[in-house]
Amino acid sequence: MLSVVPTPITVRVPAKVNLHLAVGDSRPDGYHELVTVFQALSMTDDVTVVSADEPGLEVHGEGAESVPTGPSNLAWKAVRILAEHAGRDPEEPGVRVTLHKGIPVAGGMAGGSADAAGALLALNTLWKLELPRDELADVAGRLGSDVPFALQGGTALGTGRGERLVPVLARHTYHWVIALDRDGLETPAVYTELDRLRAEPKANQVGDVEPVLEALASGDPRQLALLLGNDLQCAAVSLRPGLRRTLRAGVNAGALAGIVSGSGPTCAFLCTDADSAVKVAAELSGAGVCRTVRVAQGPAPGARVLSDERAD
Ligand code: C5P
Repeated sequence: MLSVVPTPITVRVPAKVNLHLAVGDSRPDGYHELVTVFQALSMTDDVTVVSADEPGLEVHGEGAESVPTGPSNLAWKAVRILAEHAGRDPEEPGVRVTLHKGIPVAGGMAGGSADAAGALLALNTLWKLELPRDELADVAGRLGSDVPFALQGGTALGTGRGERLVPVLARHTYHWVIALDRDGLETPAVYTELDRLRAEPKANQVGDVEPVLEALASGDPRQLALLLGNDLQCAAVSLRPGLRRTLRAGVNAGALAGIVSGSGPTCAFLCTDADSAVKVAAELSGAGVCRTVRVAQGPAPGARVLSDERAD
């Protein structure tokens, strides 16, 4: 008898950094109104789905042991929500999902959101649903604030809770050094800390987004470096005071500027060019202020199916 081996589908998804993150008041639904500029980076996860009688999820790569493999995993929630959307049984989706982590776990770089975006696109292909990107983006927005951006990639202005996106012209490849901390931070805890800090007078806020968009259009990393800003940074630093030292060390090593990425604790340093990024990364590794250091470029593409490329 002829047995057919199921063909897996692999999707590559990017990490993000927020070049600008202005956090407004908290809303009745518990979220905060945001104005943010996302940039997708060349640090990626690979999400593989394959039809299987025994459904489930497994995780490999750095930090895999701290990623849940049960129903709380956002990629698994993506499986269920897309199954439901497609009229399939979400309890019996008939797929196995494998995550290969290259994006730091709980690092403020939207790794979990990227995995959910990857699962949506991979299943859209595996199940031949042919849902258009905007319909997938709607489903993505129901899963989490950063999931639509992981689908879209590039550089984008995000509003609402971060899920409403408009692409932004970015005329340059930006070179980043990424400093990963030893332990993660939980996003809700960082927002709560920001609310606490804001109850006291003198909590400062980032400026308008327009100059950031102009700097991106000009393509000058020096101009952009002056404008990087993140309202969550003070909250992340309050919870993890050592980040102050990391941020200083990156600038001392020659970066144009450094910010906490999203809710942290990862720090992202913008550098003049590729050579400078390599030098900053080497010096920062030696400074002993973080667990590990990587070099990345942005903007990177959003979620994409790997066809001819091998997923390894
Ligand atoms: O949307 P997502 O599930 O990624 O958000 C995680 C948590 O981050 C939320 O539960 C909320 O506590 C906080 N958050 C927020 N405002 C946003 C986005 C996230 O308060 N705009």
